[in-house]
Amino acid sequence: MTASEPGEPAGLWLVGARGSVATTAVTGLLALKAGIIEPTGCVSAQVPFDQAHLAGWDDWRVGGHDVVPTPLAKRAEQLAEAGVIQYRVLEAVREPLAEVETQLCDGYQPATHRGSQADAVQRMATDIAEFAERHALARVVVVNVASTEPEFPVLPEHGTVAALDAAITEPGRVALPPSSVSAYAALRAGCSYVDFTPSTGIRLPALQQLAAQRKLPYAGSDGKTGETLVRSALAPMFTSRALTVRSWAGTNLLGGGDGRTLADSDHAGSKLASKTRGLAALLGGEVTAPLHIDDVPDLGERKTAWDHVSFEGFLGAKMSLQFTWTGYDSALAAPLVLDLARFTAAAHDAGQSGPLGALAFFFKDPLGADDHRLAEQFVALRDWATSL
Ligand SMILES: NC(=O)c1ccc[n+]([C@@H]2O[C@H](COP(=O)([O-])OP(=O)(O)OC[C@H]3O[C@@H](n4cnc5c(N)ncnc54)[C@H](O)[C@@H]3O)[C@@H](O)[C@H]2O)c1
Repeated sequence: MTASEPGEPAGLWLVGARGSVATTAVTGLLALKAGIIEPTGCVSAQVPFDQAHLAGWDDWRVGGHDVVPTPLAKRAEQLAEAGVIQYRVLEAVREPLAEVETQLCDGYQPATHRGSQADAVQRMATDIAEFAERHALARVVVVNVASTEPEFPVLPEHGTVAALDAAITEPGRVALPPSSVSAYAALRAGCSYVDFTPSTGIRLPALQQLAAQRKLPYAGSDGKTGETLVRSALAPMFTSRALTVRSWAGTNLLGGGDGRTLADSDHAGSKLASKTRGLAALLGGEVTAPLHIDDVPDLGERKTAWDHVSFEGFLGAKMSLQFTWTGYDSALAAPLVLDLARFTAAAHDAGQSGPLGALAFFFKDPLGADDHRLAEQFVALRDWATSL
């Protein structure tokens, strides 16, 4: 792919394209193109990012992979039923939604895949390359919004591109989790890559080496949309006021597909780890911070987080703060997916490669940056984006 010109079409390729976050992002993008909604929640649409060189809503074409056949229109209806998407919006975008449907391909599923993982990478890279060719796209950003995976063991083969290539060409061998197969396919197709999930994805030395060789930018991990967002705003308040946080306990109740996935403790492990790392970095490792996630199907697409913070002030006085956050997770996540696509495409255009630490503002477990404080992350994003 060659450098893009302003106004040229750009591609957004969603892995997990039929999920709640993806369907909300696509419906929202189509509604923004039609001019029937405001870009509420889109960081990139506000001052000063309106001055940055970002692709406009009209410039984007969407495609993607998924492992289920549920039509996008059906998923959008379910989201409307659940209160995430307004019916008037759904009705207005039915036609372009049907067009996006034609751009979706089968994802990689180890249980049904025949052949080697190298074959899967090749086939998926071809899907993305053909999408780019069909729409004459100078840039495609691949965003992983597929179900959170169980943690995958680190293998010696993950160390270099050569070792990984040798491992994945063995038929039947599972040397990579599906998220990393997708990340590999993205890089092979010459695309930038964003991981909105806590899955392994691009976080393997071999894949990061490949991104460096191909001069491709990437960002992750795990979108910061609810409880962790509030934590990253509040924790610096305690530290800057020299108040000692003694414990910070969190309970998450969620329904939807994510709730079902995270009800399985294997799948929840990576999510709990990415949530916990941020708080430890903000407050220091000594704080007691129990955290758990419960699946409550009755909540549908809503998620409630309840946090109890116990802290100590002058003369050892013990005090506490509690907050309850209730949100539609997909409505919080979808505009960030669009922001990330715009910023990452602009970084690629500007010749940046490697981890985009300036996008840490969007993530629970940022790649390429150590600062978890929300206000500082916003300043870093603003300075970076306006200098592109
Ligand atoms: N909603 C939020 O606020 C938020 C915040 C941070 C991270 N996330 C992450 O975003 C992801 C998506 O969340 P969601 O609520 O849309 O979940 P979801 O269950 O509604 O959607 C996930 C989609 O991924 C698909 N999928 C599963 N395995 C796949 C594979 N190997 N290849 C391609 N597609 C595959 C599923 O079929 C499904 O359509 C999750 O990993 C979640 O943890 C969401």
